[in-house]
Amino acid sequence: MFQNLQPPTVDAIIALMAKVNADERADKIDLSVGIYKDEEGRTPVMKAVSEAEDRLHASQDTKKYVGMTGDVEFNKEMTKLMLGADADLSLTGAAQAPGGSGALRLLSELVKTAKADATVWLSDPTWPNHHSLLGSGVGLAVEVYPYFDYDTQNVRFDDMCAALSKAKKDDVVVLHGCCHNPTGRDMSIEQWDTLGKFIAEKGLIPLIDFAYLGFGDGLDEDVLGMQALLKHIPTAMIAVSCSKNFGVYRDRVGCAIVVSDDAELAKVCQGHLGAIARRIYSMPPDHGAAVVRTILQDAELTKIWKEELTEMRGRVNGLREEFSAKLRELTGTNKWDFIANQRGMFTLLGLNDDEIAALRDDHAIYVVKGGRINVAGLQQSKIEKLAKALVEVTS
Ligand code: LMR
Repeated sequence: MFQNLQPPTVDAIIALMAKVNADERADKIDLSVGIYKDEEGRTPVMKAVSEAEDRLHASQDTKKYVGMTGDVEFNKEMTKLMLGADADLSLTGAAQAPGGSGALRLLSELVKTAKADATVWLSDPTWPNHHSLLGSGVGLAVEVYPYFDYDTQNVRFDDMCAALSKAKKDDVVVLHGCCHNPTGRDMSIEQWDTLGKFIAEKGLIPLIDFAYLGFGDGLDEDVLGMQALLKHIPTAMIAVSCSKNFGVYRDRVGCAIVVSDDAELAKVCQGHLGAIARRIYSMPPDHGAAVVRTILQDAELTKIWKEELTEMRGRVNGLREEFSAKLRELTGTNKWDFIANQRGMFTLLGLNDDEIAALRDDHAIYVVKGGRINVAGLQQSKIEKLAKALVEVTS
């Protein structure tokens, strides 16, 4: 049977990770996958996480099953991060999931269960894995809406609404909650608000993907756009990842949330999320979510975590400033100023395949197709080399 299989098409970002690892040049610069690194190029375990792990190790006396929707207290804490500490949790349903990707998959399976002919609308551009995770992998049709203007570096809001006006009732609109991947350009609060009214009028269902909560302008600030949209919407879905903001990438910590004005509907959806988990992997892994829950339910650990997150965000924004200032100095133009005022881990430099190949072959610099760079993976000491190489390959 398996003799008939052709090798799979490997996800572009994962394939690039392998190429970076295989490159033996000592001065290589890896700006591929979205991972936060410090000035030494390390991705250390966060202090709040280490402390929570110590506490868990000391107190955990069983490894028995937790349940199909995972850690109920973790789910509550994640929902409060999204909707506010005083949110009415009876209007929500949630399931712990293996990472943000797991949460996206649970929610797309929920859509498939409810309405198999719904179309999933993705931004153009978007994280490449959205297409298979939410579309082909689950058997839902995908359409794209324009999102980003490469010339002005702004959101194409009118074009986006024009495209979405072709969506049919119950189609799903996937939105990046903050720190749009790959562009680093988010909608304004006013645009979120306007989009909320538009989506509600058309009877569409938003699915808001939060992979970088806290990396934009702050934990509270980053959810304001979504909250402005939700005011208008009867039922919405949210996928949250803890990979980046808690630095628990390999522990796979995420949460799928359904928010509704109908408490019964929210609970039915939660039941389905559990049933879907059961038929795919039965139950999510406990450890990472237990760590996050331990942090969020302890004032001292929450304070430490928030300070660490603030420091990471500040460092990324500082790198943006320095990189764009260096490019201004080298080119004498403001062509690259946009790097400084985008948010999150990524910036899209708009490079063609030849320019990307030249960066790789001549300078050992790795960037994702289209020129997406992981600013959070950069070190100050490498900014000059990167800026010079970028100027060279684009001149
Ligand atoms: C990225 O876009 O680099 C991250 O979301 C990590 C991943 O799994 O692709």
